[in-house]
Order: sequence, then C-alpha cells, then structure tokens
Amino acid sequence: MDKKELESKIKDLKEKHNIVILAHNYQIPEIQDIADFVGDSLDLALKATKTDAKNIIFCGVDFMAESARILNPDKNVIIPDKEAKCPMAAMVDPESLGWLINENPDADVVSYINTTADVKAISDICCTSSNGAKIVKSRSAKKIIFVPDRNLGLYVQRFTPEKELILWQGICPIHHQIGKEEILQIKDKHPDAEILVHPECRPEIIDIADHAFSTNGMVNHVKKSEAKEFIIGTEKDICHRLKKETPDKTFHSLKSAVCPNMKKITLEKVLKSMESLGPKIELSEIIMQKAKLPLQRMMDVGRGD
Ligand code: 13P
Ligand code: SF4
Repeated sequence: MDKKELESKIKDLKEKHNIVILAHNYQIPEIQDIADFVGDSLDLALKATKTDAKNIIFCGVDFMAESARILNPDKNVIIPDKEAKCPMAAMVDPESLGWLINENPDADVVSYINTTADVKAISDICCTSSNGAKIVKSRSAKKIIFVPDRNLGLYVQRFTPEKELILWQGICPIHHQIGKEEILQIKDKHPDAEILVHPECRPEIIDIADHAFSTNGMVNHVKKSEAKEFIIGTEKDICHRLKKETPDKTFHSLKSAVCPNMKKITLEKVLKSMESLGPKIELSEIIMQKAKLPLQRMMDVGRGD
C-alpha cells in the first residue's frame, strides 16, 4: 500500500472508531503529519485528558502511553508497537527505589514522567523536562529523591539550591552521548545559530548551549526568538515540526541524535492498530489508582517553560 492509501485508510478509520491520534515530537515525519496533536510529554498527557474520543492511539514510547491510560481509566489507549520502550524508564524499579525511600524517610520522591507506572505509584509527584524545577520547588520537603535521569536532576538542581537532591543514576542513552564536538563543528559553520538543547543532555552540553528546553519549550522559543538559525540538541525529528511551524527559519539537527525506540511506530503499524483497536495498554487497577495522584499533582502545577 502506498503512503496516500495508508493515510486515507487511517483518516476513514479515525471517524469510524472515534479515534484520536497523539504523537510525540520525536515521531517520524509521516506520523506527525497524520496525528491530531503533536507535543511533548506534558502536553500529550494534558491532551489525553481533554479528548472526547473513546480510543487514543498513542504514537510515542511506553511510559507516555501508560500516562495517558492512567489519566483516562475509561478510555482505550493503544500503542501501535508494544516494543517502543524508553530505556531510561527501565533504569529505576520500585524495589530499589523503595530501599532509597526507607533510607531517607524525610525526602519526597519526584519522578520524571519517563518512569514505569509502578515507580509512579510510589512517587509523591511527577515532573517532565518542562517543569522539573517548578515541581521540586512546589514540595515542602528539603530533601528530594529525583528519579531516574541524573542529567535532568543536575539541571533542576541549578535552579533549586535550597533543596538537597538525591539523584538516581539513570540517563537517556541518546541525549547522554551528545558530544560538544558535534555541536561546535556546526556552530563553526553557522556562527549566528542559537544552540538549543534538551535538559537530558550532560551538564557540559548545557553549559555551551544558549538555552535548555523541553521539546515543546524549543518550539515555543523558536517562534519568539529573533534568531533565524538554530542548532537542535535533541532527537532530530523534532526538526520536522519546527520546519512546519516556522518555515522561515533554519534548523541544524545532530546526526547522532536518533531515538530508535521512537522510530518503531510506522504508518503501517498505526493502520493495523486502528483496525484491531490494539495492542491496548493494560495496567492493574490498583497501580493506576496510585499512579494517578502524582501525575495529577504534576498537571496541577503546570508548565514551567
Ligand atoms: P519532552 O517531554 O521534552 O518531549 O521529553 C521527552 C523525552 O523523552 C525526551 O527524551
Ligand atoms: Fe527515552 Fe531518550 Fe528516547 Fe526520550 S530520547 S524516549 S528519554 S530513550
């Protein structure tokens, strides 16, 4: 089936089955183009609570689709490929986190949305890359256990010197490998370009950047900025959205910044999942109930960028 045929079938099935398609900013361009909404983790979680559609097809990775399900227990949340998993979310498990909580009974647990539902269920509040510092500041405890991304934790600590962050040692393999050389080589050729990076990058990368933002934060910044050229220090397919929404600006992506997990979702798989209305995200009732509170608390605090 060619791309046009796939797109037209997807459009018909959307109406037939009352489906909304949510896609993360890192999805391949073809997926971004057929989605009803494209956004970052926080935006997509918010969108998931606002849709009237009975079925949500979530084009992203496991923890994002799980969050949509937790926030919408009466809706079907479908992920077109169950193997689209975020390796960072798998770097913390509830048992090991439980040990750390026992050792620090006076600490609050702030878990990045890139965690499993089981970890959220024992957290006080969640955060995303958009609102990490705002969330940490919103807690009355001085000590904060921050899981799982140590780079995001180090970034948040820069804005919250009054708090003592205990950092889990997880990382995003894609952002953590981004090197200074790749960015500075592009900067050499395009000296007027602003450097925008994601807070999952290492501190030395944040230090050479003009700004660090969540993925939606980057889109919003580019729209407001006077600059005409940007070096984008995050997954490269966000440049598709950036070009679409700001066609008069130029974007330089990093060759090394590709998240293979996000690329698992294809048009063919989306069509298949719309025909079968599966695979569905299934979580136990008790875990969903417990994980909803930290997510809801995060949404009540809102965006920080
Ligand atoms: P955003 O919430 O900024 O889109 O980040 C999600 C993510 O997985 C970054 O690697
Ligand atoms: Fe997970 Fe990193 Fe991919 Fe984001 S870019 S989904 S943190 S592996």
